[in-house]
Amino acid sequence: MKDASPQTIYLKDYTPFGWTAEEVHLTFVLAPSATRVRSRIRFAPNPDAPKQAFFLHGEQLKPISFAIDGTPVTPEITDTGLTCAVPEGGFTWEAEVEIAPVENFALEGLYMSNGMYCTQCEAEGFRKITFYPDRPDVMSVFTVRVEGAEKVKLSNGNPQDSGEGWAEWHDPWPKPAYLFALVAGDLVNHPGSFTTMSGRDVELNLWVRPGDEGKCAFGMEALKKSMKWDEEVYGREYDLDIFNIVAVDDFNMGAMENKGLNIFNSSAVLASPETATDANFERIEAIIAHEYFHNWTGNRITCRDWFQLCLKEGLTVFRDAQFTSDMRGEEVKRISDVIDLRGRQFPEDQGPLSHPVRPESFQEINNFYTATVYEKGAEVIGMLKRLVGDEGYAKALDLYFERHDGDAATIEDWLKVFEEATGRDLTQFKRWYSQAGTPHVAVSEAFADGTYTLTLKQHTPPTPGQPEKLPQVIPVAVGLLSPNGDEVVPTTVLELTEAEQSFTFEGLSAKPVPSILRGFSAPVVLERESTKEERAFLLAHDTDSFNRWEANRDLARECLVSMITEGAEPDTAWLDGLEAVIRDSALDPAYRALMLGTPTQSELAQVLHQRGVTPDPDAIWTATEVLKKTRAERWSNLLPHLAEEAKVTEPYQPDAEQSGKRALGSAVLALTSRLDGGEAAKAQFASADNMTLQLSALACLVQAGAGEEALAKFRAQWNGDRLVMDKWFGLQVAASGPSETADRAKALTEDPDFDMKNPNRFRAVMGALAMNHAGFHRIDGAGYRLLADWLIKLDEKNPQTTARMCSAFQTWKRYDETRRGLMQAELERIAAKPGLSRDVTEMVTRLLS
Ligand code: ARG
Ligand code: ZN
Repeated sequence: MKDASPQTIYLKDYTPFGWTAEEVHLTFVLAPSATRVRSRIRFAPNPDAPKQAFFLHGEQLKPISFAIDGTPVTPEITDTGLTCAVPEGGFTWEAEVEIAPVENFALEGLYMSNGMYCTQCEAEGFRKITFYPDRPDVMSVFTVRVEGAEKVKLSNGNPQDSGEGWAEWHDPWPKPAYLFALVAGDLVNHPGSFTTMSGRDVELNLWVRPGDEGKCAFGMEALKKSMKWDEEVYGREYDLDIFNIVAVDDFNMGAMENKGLNIFNSSAVLASPETATDANFERIEAIIAHEYFHNWTGNRITCRDWFQLCLKEGLTVFRDAQFTSDMRGEEVKRISDVIDLRGRQFPEDQGPLSHPVRPESFQEINNFYTATVYEKGAEVIGMLKRLVGDEGYAKALDLYFERHDGDAATIEDWLKVFEEATGRDLTQFKRWYSQAGTPHVAVSEAFADGTYTLTLKQHTPPTPGQPEKLPQVIPVAVGLLSPNGDEVVPTTVLELTEAEQSFTFEGLSAKPVPSILRGFSAPVVLERESTKEERAFLLAHDTDSFNRWEANRDLARECLVSMITEGAEPDTAWLDGLEAVIRDSALDPAYRALMLGTPTQSELAQVLHQRGVTPDPDAIWTATEVLKKTRAERWSNLLPHLAEEAKVTEPYQPDAEQSGKRALGSAVLALTSRLDGGEAAKAQFASADNMTLQLSALACLVQAGAGEEALAKFRAQWNGDRLVMDKWFGLQVAASGPSETADRAKALTEDPDFDMKNPNRFRAVMGALAMNHAGFHRIDGAGYRLLADWLIKLDEKNPQTTARMCSAFQTWKRYDETRRGLMQAELERIAAKPGLSRDVTEMVTRLLS
């Protein structure tokens, strides 16, 4: 959809739709290039809405016929919808339109993937299916008839009736159009069942293309666990007789929570030990849970408008994180989430794309399915829970479900249930939803006469459109350790509400060592002058496993920063302290694997930038390499022992215990490969009976510059498997050295199996390019140019995926003049493309502002 002058939509302009939609009947007569969609909708005047013209959204629809109460009418149709004169009271609207799913490469609305019909309607895709009030606050009961020769024809709700060449579905739960779904194709199912807490039997199905049957079992089990967990932890029961999940190869995002008919990117549901890694399994379990949990937080209670997106996404991410913690262990999940937050959300919050968790304006809502709305949105809920306590949270959630079931709700509704359930005033807390940017919290301390004082100062740097920030409510979890390592003050939550505030602890016999922001109790940047000795002390003694990990991360960061900025040698005192932790076999292998991780190169660039140093990607890469080599050499005797400890002798299971061991093993292999030129990796590659081991070995080989033979073998082995081949494409770019990254990526785009229309394949190559920090930022601009070339090409087909990938440039302003100039030129080249989509126009405009 080309749009010369995109419109900006504002939260403050919200007005309800003038009618309610009481019933919706849809009939689809499927054909790849000429699907007919007939709609019959009963509208009644909405007493709560101001008078307005009757407007229905509609885009790229070929109009066939329209009628009101059976009489043909001729609406006025534009690029974005139609207006029509309508009777005063209620009326029945009928329309017939034609659409061409086979030509739909935007993957929004009704489209085709490998010959199968499927839909994606969130956020505003339903308007590409038929004319409709395509807004989340218009909820209706849908009955859907699908006509076509396909063996399987699915829609939302319960199956109602079917016959030769047709099937009818009825969804009794009123829903907005963004939750509509239809699937038709020659699919096969992996069946299952679940008995709910009140004893109702629910039929479960995972629908896949023939050939993928062997990749369903894990997803089905994850679904059952999710259903059980939501009953046990939130008291939420499933509400239809059937729950269908469909795997689709061409999909813009991870998955979609359509009522009773979740549609998944096949990468987010299909898995077998041979083809999927431990990380894939964990992600699949989390996404299945996420989409299932949306049935209550999203579907039964939906959003009034798209500005409220975090109402369902932040909450559902928070819930799926709780689920993963319960399934796999809290400390590892928390650390992984914080790594992810710092890797994806912090750069967003600290650059030109920064926006509040609840944005106040947008041009294209698809551009706001961001780490800020999702992950920071979940952090905000975590803080809320910390502030009101577990019991207060449980009471508030019960009230939320009771009061708002069936509603299209707002953040105000959400906060009100907390205020009522707990008696707490959340006026100031609400700033977490309206103020963009990452708060910085500076810490200073004093000790006299047994009294220890912590002074906390908060400051949020300006963000686009928000030059001044007000103080936020920041829960800072603190514990105090005595110099001998005993915990003298257990974890206490300090509530920082002012710009500067002091907190005292009395009756201490010696100056304690503070452990601050335990469990990462708020999404902030902590600024604290602290000695290496103190950090080493926390690394050895902190009882909070998150902060123990964090102490190590701080030491790693400081070590690398001194290497980069002062040419210092690696800090051996730190390496010895870390070695003690790594050797401690009482600690979970997964935790030790996380301890072995180092800050990413882009995180280092961010830290340098925050300290006023222009990051040099080559220097960052070199320091990271030197550190790895140093560790490998220093620990050469330890590595074989760790490798032994990391061995799994039982048959493969993607559970936390085995995955933790393999994670440790792969960290060890990466170090070993620095010493043996890839010998151990070669052996592991040859003997691997699961994808986790095979892929980690391949990465080490490519990294060591010895991967060609293994890459060829891998391709020959997995040629027929699209998901595994995505790994083949991505890994070569991810693991290549900085001088060759862009050339490798370019060569891969010329491979006959590169298909830009498949978002997974496109992202495998281009995403890996953007993530290879030093490779992407090669000083001659080859990385920038290649990405921009492909973004320009893809925009004609798939604006949504193109727009998301523009964020690869979001940190452009922090680099040196040469790189900055090169990136700016590429952004301007994209912006100048005639007919650029609204999605990408908005992104590059924000990036360049
Ligand atoms: N609601 C989906 C989820 O997070 C994401 C769908 C986003 N789709 C989009 N076109 N922006 O579970
Ligand atoms: Zn979601």
